[in-house]
Amino acid sequence: MTQPKSINLTRYLVEQEREHGAITPHLRLLVEVVARACKRISLAVNKGALGDVLGAAGSDNVQGEAQKKLDVIANDVLLEANEWGGHLAAMASEEMDTVHPVDSHYPRGEYLLLFDPLDGSSNIDVDVTIGTIFSVLRIPADAGEPEERHFLQPGRDQVAAGYCVYGPQTQLVLTVGRGVAVFTLDREQGSFVLTDGDLRIPPSTGEFSINMSNMRHWAQPVRRYIDECLQGKEGPRGRDFNMRWVGSMVADVHRILMRGGVFLYPWDKREPGKPGKLRLLYEANPMSLLVEQAGGAAVAGAQRILDIEPTALHQRCSVMLGSREEVERLQQYHAQSA
Ligand code: AHG
Ligand code: MN
Ligand code: MN
Repeated sequence: MTQPKSINLTRYLVEQEREHGAITPHLRLLVEVVARACKRISLAVNKGALGDVLGAAGSDNVQGEAQKKLDVIANDVLLEANEWGGHLAAMASEEMDTVHPVDSHYPRGEYLLLFDPLDGSSNIDVDVTIGTIFSVLRIPADAGEPEERHFLQPGRDQVAAGYCVYGPQTQLVLTVGRGVAVFTLDREQGSFVLTDGDLRIPPSTGEFSINMSNMRHWAQPVRRYIDECLQGKEGPRGRDFNMRWVGSMVADVHRILMRGGVFLYPWDKREPGKPGKLRLLYEANPMSLLVEQAGGAAVAGAQRILDIEPTALHQRCSVMLGSREEVERLQQYHAQSA
């Protein structure tokens, strides 16, 4: 058998289905449809001011955040693309108050799709990397009409997760529970081509990623960790650390998956009643599954993120993820202070 020169997303998925039994035909269709939607979003992102896609939409989402035009466009593209295939029962998104059951004109499938249609909204208008994050769950058997409670499953039960990052290259990073694969969009062919079939995060790192402007609001274990990094060679860590912060989770986590590092968006006392800023079901969970599948770790303080039992669709979560040794250290600092 001749080795293929390049493997596109369809071939990768067919092989996952045929050779590894890792996915069903419906899950294959789902991932292909999401990838196609991301290509459309990528095109809109690239047009920028020429495509009338920049600026505010003039509306707020259910979380009280002002929506950008691209938040709304990306949400509509994903909804429309996924409606008709028969693979989904319902969808939910950062930009929708509640769940969106698939139109009853179409057959209902066994999967639930959650997404952050456009992550990094504050970076859209300044031409900095943004992305789309998605998570796939199975609807419980005999669920009947899909409801919000069907989406409230712990992250460890995700059957697939991924993101598409719109940067200098458009890349799709995917897990169907057998490691992490990276695809780069070949614009001439119009297809995603496999560029890394088994992504691994280096276990140790000298780079951290956090919004330092919130320092005075952090809890003691996070302060301790960052403070020790900042002390560099002269401090208890005995080495210098570097810092990077894009401000789009998708770009910061992408960097960490590519070359190691630790990303933190911890709870802070600006809004003490909320467990964090990022959303559990369509930001923290899919990123945590990817990171774990790449050999890293993801915690919300002392607890593993993928073990959190969700109680609400737009629930928030403290996030610390990336290179295993650093995340374990953070987890230990939190356990000690509990
Ligand atoms: P979104 O654009 O989907 O609302 O998410 C933005 C998130 C995340 O991408 C990023 O890590 C974080 O917000 C940055 O927030 P601050 O600039 O408020 O720290
Ligand atoms: Mn987001
Ligand atoms: Mn968003």
